[in-house]
Amino acid sequence: MSSDDFCVIKAEEDGVHVIGLTRGTDTRFHHSEKLDRGEVMIAQFTEHTSAVKVRGKAVIQTSHGELRTEE
Ligand code: TRP
Repeated sequence: MSSDDFCVIKAEEDGVHVIGLTRGTDTRFHHSEKLDRGEVMIAQFTEHTSAVKVRGKAVIQTSHGELRTEE
């Protein structure tokens, strides 16, 4: 994913968490954003963020396609 690319996460239930993980040798959580049902987060991969973890029922769209988390 290039730096100007982004992904879209849409919560399908209350309390979905979008968690950003740090780039570099130390991989740890650095941000947790809570979304309620219907809320959308548009996020990029940055100098600080190399991976994103989604916890809860959500639809995720990236340039690679669309997927849903399992319940
Ligand atoms: N300050 C973070 C950053 O610039 C913000 C961020 C970007 C983020 N992408 C994210 C937080 C994805 C959580 C998930 O890297």
